[in-house]
Amino acid sequence: MVPARLPFELIRSPAAMRARAEDLRRDGLRICVVPTMGYLHEGHLSLLRAGRARSDVLVLTLFVNPTQFGPGEDLSTYPRDEAGDLAKARSCGVDIAFCPTPEAMYAPGHKSYVQVEDLDQPLCGASRPGHFRGVATVVTKLFNLTRPHLAVFGQKDFQQLALIRRMTEDLDIGVEILGMPTVREPDGLAMSSRNAYLSAEDRAQATCLSRGLAAAERALQSGERATEALLAAARAPIEAAAGARIDYVELRDAATLESIERVDAPAVLAMAVFFGKTRLIDNTVLDLAPVA
Ligand code: PAF
Repeated sequence: MVPARLPFELIRSPAAMRARAEDLRRDGLRICVVPTMGYLHEGHLSLLRAGRARSDVLVLTLFVNPTQFGPGEDLSTYPRDEAGDLAKARSCGVDIAFCPTPEAMYAPGHKSYVQVEDLDQPLCGASRPGHFRGVATVVTKLFNLTRPHLAVFGQKDFQQLALIRRMTEDLDIGVEILGMPTVREPDGLAMSSRNAYLSAEDRAQATCLSRGLAAAERALQSGERATEALLAAARAPIEAAAGARIDYVELRDAATLESIERVDAPAVLAMAVFFGKTRLIDNTVLDLAPVA
């Protein structure tokens, strides 16, 4: 029997969220959580729809997590639109929106953090020290408060997804993790809340990330396997884009994130590129066609 839909609830208190989740579990309902920092776009909505189709109770978390921002990063200016997010959430069938305050999530005296070793070091971890400690900590807290059976994350944050999968397995958290494909604008730009920061000129140039990924995919398809050559193909459109400054463009083993010299197994081509102060990320998995 399909359980009746619950009336929409907005919960701000972590204790109330935890109690509600425990009740829902006692009623035998399957809970899915979609953790976000809000300012929802079509990418987030695709995660919500995936979660809706796979659960009885869909929980959206809206929380701009201070511990994953470094000094000088965009915590204070991160785009926020709670009313708009709640309207979008309802249109995607969200049952519970959990919107805690930073003070409620990190009470005075908070001293405990979760670290996922090695996976947190390269790529975005190298440019944003402490970022993944903040992500792993808040995701653990959100899991403890929402008590989900399933959690959905976007593959656009490839390293984050890899780290959350590792953490969930290592710490026996017992939550199924579902990764969903990156949703793109018609011109290829990966959807991101931070796209809102881009000037019109930078927005036009920002397609260089997806063009770089596509160039490397084409090189792979035409037989290139060497990391150096694939990276050169990926970098060319970015280096030609006015206003773009490469933070990193790297090719790594898709499972371990270790560096590789050539593609012999699935590899992730990941990049971060600045336009002014706005840092955009994107990635693709380079996989060899199966041998017939
Ligand atoms: O991907 C994000 O929006 C955030 O890193 C997450 C997973 C919600 C943790 O704050």
